[in-house]
Amino acid sequence: PSAGHGRAHAKVILFGEHAVVYGYPAIAVPLHGLSVYAQAAWTSGPSRVDSSYLGDPATRRPGADAIPLTAVAAARAHFGLEPGIAVDVDSAVPPGRGLGSSAATSTAIVRAIADLAGVPLGEELCFELVQHAERVAHGTPSGLDARATAAEGPIRFQSGSAHRLGVRTTAHFLVADTGVHGNTRSAVADVRAHLTAHPQQGRAALERLGAISGQVEQVFGGADGVTQLGDLMNEAQELLAGLGVSSKEIDRLATAGLAAGGLGAKLSGGGQGGCVVVLLPGEEASATVEQALREAGAAGIYRFDTRMFQP
Ligand code: PMV
Repeated sequence: PSAGHGRAHAKVILFGEHAVVYGYPAIAVPLHGLSVYAQAAWTSGPSRVDSSYLGDPATRRPGADAIPLTAVAAARAHFGLEPGIAVDVDSAVPPGRGLGSSAATSTAIVRAIADLAGVPLGEELCFELVQHAERVAHGTPSGLDARATAAEGPIRFQSGSAHRLGVRTTAHFLVADTGVHGNTRSAVADVRAHLTAHPQQGRAALERLGAISGQVEQVFGGADGVTQLGDLMNEAQELLAGLGVSSKEIDRLATAGLAAGGLGAKLSGGGQGGCVVVLLPGEEASATVEQALREAGAAGIYRFDTRMFQP
């Protein structure tokens, strides 16, 4: 083929962020409505990436394309491809919001290059190549983003591996963007500092966050449990705030979501900015809660529900 195509999705972490860095399980869901598309083609010059997400090439900050270029280089080297590869990336995922924009971009790129090479791409190989690029972005990423943006449905992730979650519960969510750029690397460093300063409380919080992910797996497996899910989200938000990764913008959106009828609200991803995920009591509450979140300052709102993942 003269061009290769690849696609990946944004993701939200529902439970277990930060705890996952310490080996506890986490639950994440791909957002099928927010996609990244990549198209790869041969070029005689050096490899390059063009992307709306990177902004105008003339004014682009130096190094902004380091992550996608690393994904290109890793895939190129793995497949033994010469010469360079030009990749066009079209992304609907806002960067720096804990939605997995970097992992989704890298996954779409790696898939497009494998397609260009005409080589089948296994899950593990895709994960390795994307993780290579993610290390440029985050330092020591757990791999949760790389797994979730490549997944076809909700996953339980632990220590690098993921498995699909069986979902019977129908749950409707809103994801509200604080508009504040969350820096995952510094949030992870802050949690580490918190653990040094308060080892007992910090360890207990991480352990409980991990246990919550286990409970969620049970809840999702049953037909009910939306209320319980909300309670677990609220508890997780308190624990994450105790570890120092909430913020006044996150708190404001979470409070507004709950006051408007949401059953649970918590930060998602690294925190200190990024997105808040709100569990709705039902689909009909969506408009009211969305309005309240906008009034509380949400810069963007995305909806998703678990119906498309049900058997
Ligand atoms: O901010 P995000 O969506 O990239 O998620 C980070 C999740 C953490 O658990 C905080 C870090 C990690 O590497 O898993």
